[in-house]
Order: sequence, then structure tokens, then C-alpha cells
Amino acid sequence: METKILKINKHKPEKDKIKYAANVLRQGGTVAFPTETVYGLGADALNEKAVEKIFAAKGRPADNPLIVHISDVTEVDKLAKSISDTARILMKTFWPGPLTIIMEKAPCVPDIVTAGLNTVAIRLPSNKIALELIKESGVPVAAPSANTSGKPSPTKASHVIDDLKDRVDIIIDGGDAEVGVESTVIDMTSEIPVILRPGGVTYEELVTVIENVNINKELNIKDDENNIPLCPGMKYRHYSPKADLIIVEGHKEMITDKINELTCNDKKEGLKVGILATKGTEHIYNADYVVSVGDDEKPETIAANLFSRLREFDDKGVDIIYAQAISEKGIGMAIKNRLEKAAVKILKV
Ligand code: TXA
Ligand code: MG
Repeated sequence: METKILKINKHKPEKDKIKYAANVLRQGGTVAFPTETVYGLGADALNEKAVEKIFAAKGRPADNPLIVHISDVTEVDKLAKSISDTARILMKTFWPGPLTIIMEKAPCVPDIVTAGLNTVAIRLPSNKIALELIKESGVPVAAPSANTSGKPSPTKASHVIDDLKDRVDIIIDGGDAEVGVESTVIDMTSEIPVILRPGGVTYEELVTVIENVNINKELNIKDDENNIPLCPGMKYRHYSPKADLIIVEGHKEMITDKINELTCNDKKEGLKVGILATKGTEHIYNADYVVSVGDDEKPETIAANLFSRLREFDDKGVDIIYAQAISEKGIGMAIKNRLEKAAVKILKV
């Protein structure tokens, strides 16, 4: 299949291009599009054959359910049932935006979308291109991140092109995704809401509007066959660059010293070393490829760059990557979660 690349202005999406892509969605095709978090690969959520194409293009396991994207909050009533008052408050506060809400599903949502679960994940994104595309298509749009399964989520159209060119009908190039990590997934079907995946809306923000929120304890735990995860996607090794990534955690100076020591040993063995530093620590290291992921004081900058930096290590062909641990505050919780999912080991110093 030949993929059409459509460049669209994210501030003022061109109507004719939106119409063209929306028509492809309506006819059961696949369209990769930007959202404020990461790029998504969309298809008509109510068309099973169309949704099958998403799983095939990504190589995604069938037991990992998809998020349904909408452009108008009233759509929720068609897709979900038993919607709690608390869920409504979340929609009012955080939509449009990077929050995905899990509710009991309505019968119209096909099993392939929810992987047979009786719940459905719904999100109303804030990106203009995403909103206009969904609205114009007239259908709810199922969309996972637009990467090959197991690779870091795409934050630039070029990432999507690298992974999915000639596997999908259209790739919209709408510039960089601003947030850089995926949406927060919150389960509203249990008595106390549970964060299944930390993301663009922080824990601190959530507790300002709902008193009680639990955090899924298995969030950062690696694959374990006896452990059935609440959020099926979290059981897969994720976001991984090709090289082994090792996180070094502890006091700041201890971290840099340890990474330098490890780098020195690895180089003696002829390994090519990459380091994920932060603003101000790049020059401390002496490795083959050192890159700053952002400013520790401004975790949003780290979120915005993380996946892109991880992909760059693949291009540089490094054998091993050392990453400084990131603080868990604010969006740091999501960053830490993604880094730990990508890592083979966490070293405490
Ligand atoms: O920011 C985002 O959420 C992006 C953009 C494109 O919207 N999408 C995204 O989708 O990250 P995906 O498929 O890569 O991740 C969705 C996560 C998976 O971990 C999946 O298991 C979980 O949401 N999920 C979906 N439906 C669920 C359900 N009914 N119950 C529990 N978890 C669910
Ligand atoms: Mg994904």
C-alpha cells in the first residue's frame, strides 16, 4: 500500500486536507494524526475491519485494547454507560486534553476495540488537527500511538514515517506533539478511581478535583506472567530503544560519578556508549553520544523530548545507554514510568 503524506497547518488546519483524510477514515481506512500527547494511528472505532488494520500495521497484540477518540463530549453517552458524576467532573475539567477515562462500555463498541473487556477507554484530545479530523469524519476514532509495537511512541511525523510508511493510508504531518508522553489513563469503574498509566494530566492535578485517587501499584513492574495487569498495555516491554538502557538513581553527584565509571569500563571493552543527560550535566560525561533530554527544573521539557531522544540513540548505533533518574514530581511520574519501561535495569547508587 502506498502511504500519502499530508502536511497540515496545526494552527489553521486546511479544510480540504481534513476532508480528504476524514473521508478515508469514514471509508474504513487508516490515518495517522498528531495529538497533543503523541501521534495516533486512527480508524473508525465502530468498524471492525478498519480497526483490524490498526493492529496489523503496528504488529500490536490483540489483547491490548485501544482508546476511542471523540471531538464532542456528548459522544460519551453513545459509547459508555453508567457514567459517574465524578467521571463527568473529570471530563469537564480536563477535556479537551491528555486524560483517558475508562468507563463501562456501550454495546455498539466492538470487542476488537476493547480486547473483549466490558470497559472502554475514551479521550477528547485538544490538538486542532485531531479534533477537526474526528469531527469531520463523523465517527469515533480508535487510535493507539502510531509506532510499531514496542518502539517509543512517535512525537514527530518523521517517527511515524519511519515506523508505518506503506502500512497505513495517510500520515498527517502536523508538527511536533507538545506534551510528548501519552495521556493519563484513569479507571472510573472501581469505587476509588485508579490511575492505570500516568501521563499528561498529573496526579497533583487530578487530586485537586477528585479527593481519592489510587495509583496502580504494578505501574513500573516488568513483565510477569502471573501478574494480570489492569491496563493490558502496561504488561508489554515498551518504548524501548535497541540498545540496553540502564537507569542510575541516587544523589546527583553520585549518579554522574557512577555513570562516568561505568562508561569508562564499557569503553575499555569496546562498547559504544550513549548517555541521556539533563541540562547542565552533558559536559560532565565523556561518552560516544551524550544528549540532554531537557531541564530537570522544567520536567515538561523532558517529557517533550524523551521519546525523540530514545529514537536518536537507535540512529547512532550505541550498544548501551545510561540515563540519570528523573524526579517523580508532576509529569515526572509519567517520565519515570516510561523510562523504567524502556530500561533493562535500575542501578541505585
Ligand atoms: O496519548 C494517548 O493516549 C495516545 C494518543 C494517540 O491519544 N494513545 C495511546 O494509545 O497512547 P495506546 O494504545 O498506545 O495506549 C493505550 C493504553 C494501553 O496501555 C491500553 O492497554 C490502555 O490504554 N487501555 C485501553 N483500553 C483500556 C481498557 N478498557 N481498560 C484498561 N486499559 C485500557
Ligand atoms: Mg502505545
